[in-house]
Amino acid sequence: MRLAIVTSRIRVEEKLLIEALRKRSIDFEIIDDGALLLDLARPDERLRAFDAVFCRSVSQSRGLAVAHVLESWGIPVFNSAAVTTTCNDKLLTTLALLRAGVPTPRTMLAFEAETALQGIETIGYPVVLKPVTGSWGRLLARVNDRDAAEAVLEHQETLGGYQHHIRYMQEHVAKPQRDIRAFVVGERTICAIYRNSEHWVTNTARGAVTTNCPVTPELDALCMQAAQAVGGGILAVDLFEDQERGLLVNEINATMEFRNSIVPTGVNIPDEIIDYIFARVRGEVLR
Ligand SMILES: Nc1ncnc2c1ncn2[C@@H]1O[C@H](COP(=O)(O)OP(=O)(O)O)[C@@H](O)[C@H]1O
Ligand SMILES: [Mg+2]
Repeated sequence: MRLAIVTSRIRVEEKLLIEALRKRSIDFEIIDDGALLLDLARPDERLRAFDAVFCRSVSQSRGLAVAHVLESWGIPVFNSAAVTTTCNDKLLTTLALLRAGVPTPRTMLAFEAETALQGIETIGYPVVLKPVTGSWGRLLARVNDRDAAEAVLEHQETLGGYQHHIRYMQEHVAKPQRDIRAFVVGERTICAIYRNSEHWVTNTARGAVTTNCPVTPELDALCMQAAQAVGGGILAVDLFEDQERGLLVNEINATMEFRNSIVPTGVNIPDEIIDYIFARVRGEVLR
């Protein structure tokens, strides 16, 4: 069995994955996405010799492109290109969750600033504006009143990039000073953490502190439903605790970071991931 890990940089996560592979004496290779030159009609024989490729690119767009190409060459890729496509895009994720009946915050979409303002006022302040592609809590705006809404919308119009011209507007969920990140690997929610922060943006990349969150049967069932809604695999599900509605699924990440989640949960996340990939390659589990 041979595994390739495609990445841009060896982060703590990749080091931990390498450790898990060495422990099992699994043959692997690290492939730098920056060095890839893919001749689309001529499948790369070196890449085709791997039983599976694990896409860990730091850049979401690179990771997705690699997944598409390798998959079209018949190489098993984790996560699949289809799952990654959905998870990389908050609009596609929200639509997938809604289709599957998974509770998620109310979200509206508009294109013109004036129409977006109508949407914001329909949802009611505060409203959260997000780029549909992005991570680490970057470029999120919590808008508390009309003045701020007009300013952000105008800034997006004039200074924003292509991704800002799709206005993704969401109700602000009055969550406690934390949210939940649950790790799904195949058919199981292997562990979950609370991300605690004084700030309303609770990404660990923004300084949130992680503590263990017990995986209740309710949390597990909801996470499995959410994971299946986007096609399943190795996924991190972000959830909010709403006082009235209970758990709401915010988004799902297809290339997760887990360095701050191993100690609080006591679960060896890289081991679980590697075991899952090999069980899939051997056909022992179907999804
Ligand atoms: N609608 C919302 N209500 C309350 N908090 C939110 C909302 N949307 C995002 N947040 C906060 O911002 C963080 C980042 O938002 P998220 O949608 O997960 O984007 P990213 O892809 O950047 O992680 C969330 O973990 C949460 O703490
Ligand atoms: Mg997130």
